[in-house]
Amino acid sequence: MKNLDTVGVIGAGTMGSGIGLVAAIAGHKTIVFDADAKALAKAKESTDKIIVKQIEKGTLTSEKAQEIKSNLTFADTINALGSCELVIEAIIENLNIKQNLFVNLESIVSDSCILATNTSSLSIVSIASACENPGRVIGIHFFNPANVMPLVEIIPSLTTDDKITKETIAIIDSWGKKTVLAKDTPGFIVNRIARPYYGEAIRIYEESIADLATIDWAMKEVGKFRMGPFELMDFIGNDINYKVTETVFEQFFYDPRYKPSFTQKRLYEAKHFGRKSGKGYYDYSPAAKMPEPIKDSKLSCVIFNRIIAMLINEAADALYLKIATREDIDLAMTKGVNYPKGLLKWADELGINYVLNALECLHSEYGEDRYRPSVLLKRMVHEGKTFY
Ligand SMILES: NC(=O)c1ccc[n+]([C@@H]2O[C@H](COP(=O)([O-])OP(=O)(O)OC[C@H]3O[C@@H](n4cnc5c(N)ncnc54)[C@H](O)[C@@H]3O)[C@@H](O)[C@H]2O)c1
Repeated sequence: MKNLDTVGVIGAGTMGSGIGLVAAIAGHKTIVFDADAKALAKAKESTDKIIVKQIEKGTLTSEKAQEIKSNLTFADTINALGSCELVIEAIIENLNIKQNLFVNLESIVSDSCILATNTSSLSIVSIASACENPGRVIGIHFFNPANVMPLVEIIPSLTTDDKITKETIAIIDSWGKKTVLAKDTPGFIVNRIARPYYGEAIRIYEESIADLATIDWAMKEVGKFRMGPFELMDFIGNDINYKVTETVFEQFFYDPRYKPSFTQKRLYEAKHFGRKSGKGYYDYSPAAKMPEPIKDSKLSCVIFNRIIAMLINEAADALYLKIATREDIDLAMTKGVNYPKGLLKWADELGINYVLNALECLHSEYGEDRYRPSVLLKRMVHEGKTFY
């Protein structure tokens, strides 16, 4: 493994502060740089709070806490990153700003430093293309909160050196994370395959097939998902979720399968972001009562079957298009978004024929390209194959 003494993190916001903590816990000298002094102070305060909480819970000894604190420093100048062998960028999601940062970074760090981006929606190669040595640029995509979520997607671009990819995987594995390898395509693995969990649920709601609470209940009751789609969107934030949906749609050249909905757009425009704003799909004000679901087993199966078929279709298509391996696709959905089972394993359990039939019924009824089944599912049924 690459000899890694010092790690740099750029951006001390939601993701950067968590990533900095992960690197410091892994034993590296970690320097977190942000252009905004307030963000640095906030990051320091939030990491201190996490450390104190972990000591109280007994998951961290005070010696280890001391070690983490001495590993972690916060800097207000990018020049502090000169000795880093790995720098992970987690700044604002803007291509121009990221490209300028990477160009600047190349003039500061040594030639052997790996330059990584935590971008959710930009292509890795578009950032790398600004660099003198694009071979050392790679995507390291953490999930929020970075210090809690075990999954990390590793995304080499068209121009990333194989050696850099191998070194990056070894480093992130050594941090105790579960790495999966993804192609540099919109949404990588998780943000691509998870789209129908939200989109199809909204569609069912828009068609008045069921209300929000009933859809959430169906996915928890029948599918054993930890959170229903609307609860989850309110938890993630409808601003973040809507933006990811919109970007994925645009980047897939407006493939109708990823089409955003007006319901979510209006919530976003109204700043009904969910839990953090006190109102989203649900009302979180102290006096508000959560609506009761209709606990109808037939209706809940209709809802579950439609959403799971669409999710499996995405997973199958991602496999067909070699976005990731079968194992990594299933691992990504269980570790990145806590699905109760890998979708390809789930497809085998339900029966590929059953899933294909559900999709074909939707496709024929609606006549929309949104419901077109993946060619892989069709071939598998034809050849009598299963994923495992
Ligand atoms: N929030 C999520 O759930 C999530 C999950 C995975 C990946 N991401 C990605 O991680 C990145 C950061 O997202 P976030 O949610 O942490 O954002 P954030 O807004 O919480 O933090 C971004 C930080 O970057 C700083 N910054 C902006 N421009 C800078 C520059 N030129 N130099 C130095 N610092 C600069 C800002 O001051 C801010 O503190 C984005 O690319 C986003 O797509 C976010």
